[in-house]
Amino acid sequence: MSLAVNMSRMRADLTSLSSIGRMTGGGITRTSFSAADLAAREWYQARCAQAGLVLRTDGIGNMFAEARGTGTAGGAGPAPAAVWSGSHLDTVPDGGAFDGAVGAVAALECVRRLAEERVELARPVRAVVFADEEGNYNHLLGSTAIARDFTRDELAAMTGRDGDRLVDAVTAIGWNPDALAGNQVDPEQVYAFVELHIEQGPNLEASGTDIGVVTSIVAMGGAVAEFRGRADHAGTTPMTRRQDPLRSAAQLIAALPAITAAVSDTAVATCGKLVTFPGGANVVPALVRMLLDYRDPDAGRLARLDEQLIAAARQAAAAHDVTLRWTAERPVAPVELDPRVRSAIDVRARGLGLSAVAMPSGAGHDAQNMATLAPTGMIFVPSRDGRSHSPAEHTDWEDIENGANVLLATLTHLATTGLSGPVSAAG
Ligand code: GLV
Ligand code: MN
Ligand code: MN
Repeated sequence: MSLAVNMSRMRADLTSLSSIGRMTGGGITRTSFSAADLAAREWYQARCAQAGLVLRTDGIGNMFAEARGTGTAGGAGPAPAAVWSGSHLDTVPDGGAFDGAVGAVAALECVRRLAEERVELARPVRAVVFADEEGNYNHLLGSTAIARDFTRDELAAMTGRDGDRLVDAVTAIGWNPDALAGNQVDPEQVYAFVELHIEQGPNLEASGTDIGVVTSIVAMGGAVAEFRGRADHAGTTPMTRRQDPLRSAAQLIAALPAITAAVSDTAVATCGKLVTFPGGANVVPALVRMLLDYRDPDAGRLARLDEQLIAAARQAAAAHDVTLRWTAERPVAPVELDPRVRSAIDVRARGLGLSAVAMPSGAGHDAQNMATLAPTGMIFVPSRDGRSHSPAEHTDWEDIENGANVLLATLTHLATTGLSGPVSAAG
């Protein structure tokens, strides 16, 4: 009988974690670097301390936990490259209890179980919690810093969902803004990475499949579009004499379905936040700030989508006599996940008597940054009705237990036997 996770402990962990940032309407708001995010970090640190794990936090807020004496954190001399696993504790505003939390808690549980059973490993297993996966300041902030680092200029210019600067946000919580840079990880430290996550789509539930073995992750772009016009009196300014930036924003939003359809049938684009300034019912707005998120599985098509969106935004600005400032995030490249890790997951899932299917991910994940450092794989478990980024997000405990056991078996395999099989995706 293979080693299994302690599901009652995992369930208790996920339940207590879900009370942090819980809103009266039932959703969870644990956006990064907020008080709730800090509370979740303390919660995680306490869990690690209770389990006797060594925990390290880097300068941008990524946390790494492992059994004492197994790695660079506690061992003597150079440690072998570790098998990493983890996800994120931050949430979108008014999100659910499972996105990120399942993978972060399952990785912690795997490290705990391996330590408790004193499983002899050829290389350590390290649990990781990535900072700001949801992009309160930058999509996949922490894992990007690990994979390629940010320049000091990029960090200084980075603003959040509410328009505040990242450097101010971390200073306000007592962190050192200078430490945001220089957190890149040497790929030699990472043997492989595996992330467990809820599917956030309807396919596993619809097909009655237990486990998704992720093949690829979508390319993502993001931008802040600011339309600037002129504040005027809502009663006395004739409709023909206005420079109303909200009209431009409305024109751009209304054009999103046609723009995406012209690029591909998989392209998506969303305006998830729009702020008008100064924001009075009787004031023609002077400024509109809108946040855009756009994706396609193909990098070339994402670049086309980016061009089409900028062109449409320029047109929308000109049509209403306002100006446009477009600030783009650096796009996140799509990735193919490693066939050897995929196969290790698939074999472990079937070995546990579970059904498994290969599938792409339309959601972004820290795994796509980790894939630039080391062979990477992802395990999906079903989401009820495919709902996510919503308080309606739900995954059954049994599915979480299945996913966590597949994760534990895969990590154990990678940390003992290691990677095997063809490197190429063919076959
Ligand atoms: C991450 O949740 C994403 O935005 O896909
Ligand atoms: Mn997530
Ligand atoms: Mn998410």
